[in-house]
Amino acid sequence: AVVDKGNYKHFMAKEIHEQPEVIGHTISRYIDLNDYSTVVPEASAIDFTKLDRLVITACGTAYYAGLVAKYWFEKYARLPVDIDIASEFRYREMPVKAGDLALFISQSGETADTLASLRYCKDKGMVIGSVVNVPESTIARESNVVFPTYAGPEIGVASTKAFTCQLTVLAALAVHAGRMRGTLSEAQAKGLVETLSELPSYTRQALALSDQIEEMAHWISQTNHALFLGRGTSFPMALEGALKLKEISYIHAEGYAAGELKHGPIALIDETMPVFVVAPHDSIYEKTVSNMQEVAARGGRIVLITNGKGAEAAGLEAHHIITVPDVPEIATPIVYALPLQLISYYTAVFMGTDVDQPRNLAKSVTVE
Ligand code: G6P
Repeated sequence: AVVDKGNYKHFMAKEIHEQPEVIGHTISRYIDLNDYSTVVPEASAIDFTKLDRLVITACGTAYYAGLVAKYWFEKYARLPVDIDIASEFRYREMPVKAGDLALFISQSGETADTLASLRYCKDKGMVIGSVVNVPESTIARESNVVFPTYAGPEIGVASTKAFTCQLTVLAALAVHAGRMRGTLSEAQAKGLVETLSELPSYTRQALALSDQIEEMAHWISQTNHALFLGRGTSFPMALEGALKLKEISYIHAEGYAAGELKHGPIALIDETMPVFVVAPHDSIYEKTVSNMQEVAARGGRIVLITNGKGAEAAGLEAHHIITVPDVPEIATPIVYALPLQLISYYTAVFMGTDVDQPRNLAKSVTVE
């Protein structure tokens, strides 16, 4: 079938706006909306109680989905996660245990380094699971267990809806593993699943930030450099926000763990430097705010991406506050992905770059 842009100017815009719907499709495959339990028939082949460790490997945006999942598997299932980018993993000669689970995350299912890493793990007798968007892809075919995302065809080179669907699958899988391993009570797991069931509505609300973010695009487009900061699962989201901005607007952007600020990037901060701070009002919010104050004290221009409570608590430090809907912790990476996508999208549109086909990039990297 031919996929068209519908009423959108770019595939990327269309794919950003499709997220409530495709996350809904994905959710309905992995959770039971009648009793808020996880339904992962694929996972019945995996005995989570026997696993000592989970290995995760991917490239690009899919790798950042894996980094977020590391926090979830460790917190909810008390399962240690070893994660690396596939181009490093494949040559690292990492000692692995036969029978342990290795998860490969890929939109296309054809990325050369991810596939090579999969074959390495398969050779060593690991159980191979993959989170893929293309069910007939090579990575899917070579896996023991496939966890499909239901994002539909993704045309824009910069991944958006595939990423949030990957996160949705991984969240459901982490909760499922937590139940199997007895590290989440039935009530805790139900609470988490209920939150996941609200994702279509939460992401729809996040799309309402479009106009506010579009108005910031002119200002962002005037910079050559930007910094993205976050802690916890917001750290990989900061990495993803920076990747998106550089991919399609060609503005040099770096994502950093907020706590690493004083170990280097703080030297770059002056009045010309926008600093995007991803900080939902959670247990580590205060820590991130103290890093934000260090930026403010040096004249950095802060864009705070937070929820209502976080906006109140931030005082007057931020130049711009993007107020995201209030959502429970497990939903934050998925919901905060949308304003980050919109920041890069509107900035690139303002600058007139080729949003769907950015220079030098390929949708699927099938050569090393
Ligand atoms: C390319 C794309 C990215 C994508 C990465 C991994 O670099 O431009 O958007 O995240 O490949 O691709 P995969 O298909 O394995 O998810």
